[in-house]
Amino acid sequence: MKLFLDTANLAQIKKLNQMGLVDGVTTNPSLVAKEAGDFEEIVRAICKEVRGDVSAEVVGTSYEEMVGEGKRLASLAPNVVVKMPITPEGLKATRTVTLEGIRVNMTLIFSANQGLLAAKAGASFVSPFIGRLDDIGHRGMEVVEDLVKIRDNYGMKVEVLVGSVRHPQHVLEAAKIGADIATMPPEVMERMMQHPLTDSGLKRFLDDWQKAKQSKPAISR
Ligand code: E4P
Repeated sequence: MKLFLDTANLAQIKKLNQMGLVDGVTTNPSLVAKEAGDFEEIVRAICKEVRGDVSAEVVGTSYEEMVGEGKRLASLAPNVVVKMPITPEGLKATRTVTLEGIRVNMTLIFSANQGLLAAKAGASFVSPFIGRLDDIGHRGMEVVEDLVKIRDNYGMKVEVLVGSVRHPQHVLEAAKIGADIATMPPEVMERMMQHPLTDSGLKRFLDDWQKAKQSKPAISR
């Protein structure tokens, strides 16, 4: 399973990338708006840091705007994936740019049927937003289960990219279902590393080591 970071913050991406944990990055207009600097420069810098796919989203809503922005974003780096929203215009724009070899991550997917249409239009990635579905009392992971099943039933090339991840349990569930990718805020990836028994276990090892060193000065490493 691939793990992506859902952020436009280069420092946080670098920190986790140094541990070899970052297979790719997803951004969206809200995430980019939180960072200082020019959008295209931010995308270029992330693409340089991370070898894997980096999603950058269009903000136009008409077919013409989405196609124009999509081409522009795709020209920034070879690992850019253009994010387009699942609207009728977005589907049409996806069809056009994918025929030209540009990869699309279709975003704001809240039902398996939307995901199916995105895949039919040519999207390489479909992004169901599970946390936002959970927020309104649905079971977001059900959409992921359905999409993975549909993909497998028909041997579709599309990758199921689980978005709007809120906690480590979401990542675990997505992995058990067989989703291709989970994208998460850096804090979620950091929480995945942690366990209180790791902290207390390490403390006990080090305390025992110190005690033994004091009573048996011959121990050295
Ligand atoms: C995915 O690609 C989106 O950027 C993201 O996961 C949205 O998550 P949110 O619901 O936390 O904004």
